[in-house]
Amino acid sequence: MISRRFLLAAAAGLPMAGGARAGTVTDLDGQAVTLGNAERLLSLGGDVTEILVELGFGEKIVAVDTTSLYPPALVDPLPKVGYLRSLGAEAILTLRPSAIIAGGDAGPPNVLRQLRAAGVPVVHTESSRSPEDLLHKVRLIGQALDAGAAAQALDDRLSKALAAAEAEVKAQPRHPRCLFVLSNQGGRLMAAGRDTAADALIGLAGGVNAFGAAEGYKILTPEAAASIAPEVVVVMEHTVAGPGGAEALLAQPALAVTPAGRDKRLAVLEGGYHLQFTPRLPEAILDFSRRIRA
Ligand code: HEM
Repeated sequence: MISRRFLLAAAAGLPMAGGARAGTVTDLDGQAVTLGNAERLLSLGGDVTEILVELGFGEKIVAVDTTSLYPPALVDPLPKVGYLRSLGAEAILTLRPSAIIAGGDAGPPNVLRQLRAAGVPVVHTESSRSPEDLLHKVRLIGQALDAGAAAQALDDRLSKALAAAEAEVKAQPRHPRCLFVLSNQGGRLMAAGRDTAADALIGLAGGVNAFGAAEGYKILTPEAAASIAPEVVVVMEHTVAGPGGAEALLAQPALAVTPAGRDKRLAVLEGGYHLQFTPRLPEAILDFSRRIRA
């Protein structure tokens, strides 16, 4: 159905604010995607959700995943389709989205294929592991939604703020050795090596990833933990939400012997804010940089 907003804008020859018209883009999977109707958007990933809101499409979002936590006034009342990395097609299709914008970590891949096979256009954007990835994602989503001018304005604002954050971090004399722990199951610690959002954030904040010799997420043995000697342990809130909380994590034999364990230095992050590389990334970098130096 053609919306009243579309008819009015078309009649007036105006670009459509929060537009219903959309362009064609080539996405992460090499798919040429045209979002014919962007009236019922389903957003997968906190980064994507925040970009959609910044571009003026917040009102068009009909459902989100559970990593979309901001802005709470918009996302809290919306239906949730599950965790970004373990989605199911049925829960999504029930919500009748006219288009899906998915962050790079959305999956598993067969679910995105099922959604496309069901006739729903899916724009799969890349994972953000750098400020450039974030800016590229802003432009891609802007193009897909025919909101190039809004995307350009956001790109300009973010580029300036990111450059300012980079300059502030560069002025810091210390480079704390950080260890990001994703999970702690019965003392088995899973830690972030290279090519993870955590590794990228540590670098952007002027720290050093103590586990940077590893690739991706790997089990951290007690011997390895002792030898890499982290000064700060970094976790997401939900990782230390269980019994004993942060203290229990630092008391793990593997961590207790490290400088971070001895000095009880732990930085607790909001996964959605600090690690999803949203348009709030410049503030997230500065906030994290202050915490690892505190
Ligand atoms: C049901 C609970 C959850 C499970 C089982 C889970 C599982 C995982 C796993 C397995 C990874 C590693 C993926 C990889 O190997 O690349 C991961 C990464 C991540 N998760 Fe979750 N997660 C959960 C909840 C959350 C929540 C609530 C958030 C944030 C709002 C979140 C944010 C992230 C982020 C940002 C990463 C990427 C970290 C990086 O690349 O450094 N997760 N999660």
